[in-house]
Amino acid sequence: MSDTEQFPVTMTVNGKKVQRFVEARTLLIHFLREDLNLTGPHIGCETTHCGACTVEMNGMSVKTCTLFAVQANGAELTTIEGMANPDGTLSALQEGFRQMHGLQCGFCTPGMIMRAHTLLKENPNPTEDEIRMGISGNLCRCTGYQNIVKAIQYAAAKLNGTDFQEAAE
Ligand code: FES
Ligand code: FES
Repeated sequence: MSDTEQFPVTMTVNGKKVQRFVEARTLLIHFLREDLNLTGPHIGCETTHCGACTVEMNGMSVKTCTLFAVQANGAELTTIEGMANPDGTLSALQEGFRQMHGLQCGFCTPGMIMRAHTLLKENPNPTEDEIRMGISGNLCRCTGYQNIVKAIQYAAAKLNGTDFQEAAE
């Protein structure tokens, strides 16, 4: 195998089937950003800590900087670009992040929302502690996390059809 040998990959990304040739060493984050032009997922580190590159793959939260694109062959992925509703309205989480001011620079937000999306499938009614633990693989340098927790609580309430009551501080 030469360094530049290309391998075929097929995957479903945001509901669309994509087929490309990639080098074995190509990271999934680079494949998403550079081959598919899905530039919402970001790169914030080289040590798998920050989670800015998080997407949902086969129902799991994955850090796409720590997978090769060839490992996603056959997988089903959702990135932040696949989160809005088909009619263009925002998903409950996107709305929650805006309403609760859960973002500032926005760099962590695609990964944060994708992690929260999977978290709310794993646990539709999380406590504050479960939310904080559930997003502990995602770093944010701007918000101090407090409003991200509220944004996720807002989305959980909306998805559960209950009223979101902001806790008094
Ligand atoms: S870029 Fe930081 S965990 Fe992936
Ligand atoms: S909003 Fe800036 S890093 Fe989270």
